[in-house]
Amino acid sequence: MAKIISQDGKAITDSTAIEKRLAAIGITLKQWPAPTSPRARELMDKQALSDNEKAELLKFVDNRFEELKRDKGYQTRDLVVIHEDIPGLPDMLAKFDKIHTHSDDEVRYILAGTGYFGFVDKDGSQFMLEVTAGDYINVPANAEHWFEMKGCARCKAVRYFIDTAGWTPHYTGRPVALREAAHVLTAMCLFGLLALVCPPVGSATTPERSPYAGQQQRDIKALSAKEVDDYRQGRGMGYAKAAELNRYPGPSHVLELSSPLVLTSAQRQQTQAIYDRMHNAAVLLGRQIVDREASLDTLFAGRKADSDQVERLTREIAALQAQLRFVHLRAHLEMVAVLMPAQIDTYQRLRGYRDGHTGGHQHQH
Ligand SMILES: [Fe+2]
Repeated sequence: MAKIISQDGKAITDSTAIEKRLAAIGITLKQWPAPTSPRARELMDKQALSDNEKAELLKFVDNRFEELKRDKGYQTRDLVVIHEDIPGLPDMLAKFDKIHTHSDDEVRYILAGTGYFGFVDKDGSQFMLEVTAGDYINVPANAEHWFEMKGCARCKAVRYFIDTAGWTPHYTGRPVALREAAHVLTAMCLFGLLALVCPPVGSATTPERSPYAGQQQRDIKALSAKEVDDYRQGRGMGYAKAAELNRYPGPSHVLELSSPLVLTSAQRQQTQAIYDRMHNAAVLLGRQIVDREASLDTLFAGRKADSDQVERLTREIAALQAQLRFVHLRAHLEMVAVLMPAQIDTYQRLRGYRDGHTGGHQHQH
């Protein structure tokens, strides 16, 4: 069953209310129960599928394709299988986690796992829709949206096309204002997500189950695959919030918004230099953090942890995290010396911060 999460973090679970909110921006959501035969279930539960297995699973939902061909003129379909061991998965998903449109409808029927669509409402606010097995969704052409995967990165969805050329994303440049809220949501929903996509370890509704259930299968128990990837790629991970949310723009987003901010070539060069310095340092520190976390995990996994080793590693990790935070915050500090106040105003607006607290740094230049 789908669920809407608003920008303020509130969830809507009533199906009528969800459909009404989606319909207001032209999105259709229907419940098409996933096939229930033992073989279909077996295929839906597998992590990866061969081409033959994909074709076999698609056969179980032929009736849906026939309906779409007859009623809407759909021509082709395929089955997309997302799982955590796909090489280059973060890069693949990064194509769709920015706000974009398509020239054709985006039509998906979720057979297994979970995914998150993000939408821009008529008033410019954003919200997310959690889709799970049995959800059929039609996002109309030109609707601003994005898509993310969270928790265990598994999802099986049928994609229907009238023309596959219509699948090309056109990025609108509007930033995702909901991303931080979505991370909170991830933590809130982790239990539910893992129950859906990870190997079964008991009843998903057993109240005494730990919210960490399923995480014991991670390579490094204390870090999700996404956190490991974020550290290794030098991503922000919220380390710069004290600056970002107090009118100190970050170089990465400034470069992303260089056109609407009307950066001069000198500003662009300076911003790129700030970004490169930050990114290079963040990658080095992030990799060291992951290495230390792996060492800590190995100690406990091998039942060889002792107090001295654990104290040493936790202190090292804390020191590295402090350095990483400083690297990110310093880059934001450096950015205010590059940008004009009007550009910072524009950044605030484009990043969706105008309605919140803006901090006390509006007249620095
Ligand atoms: Fe899309």
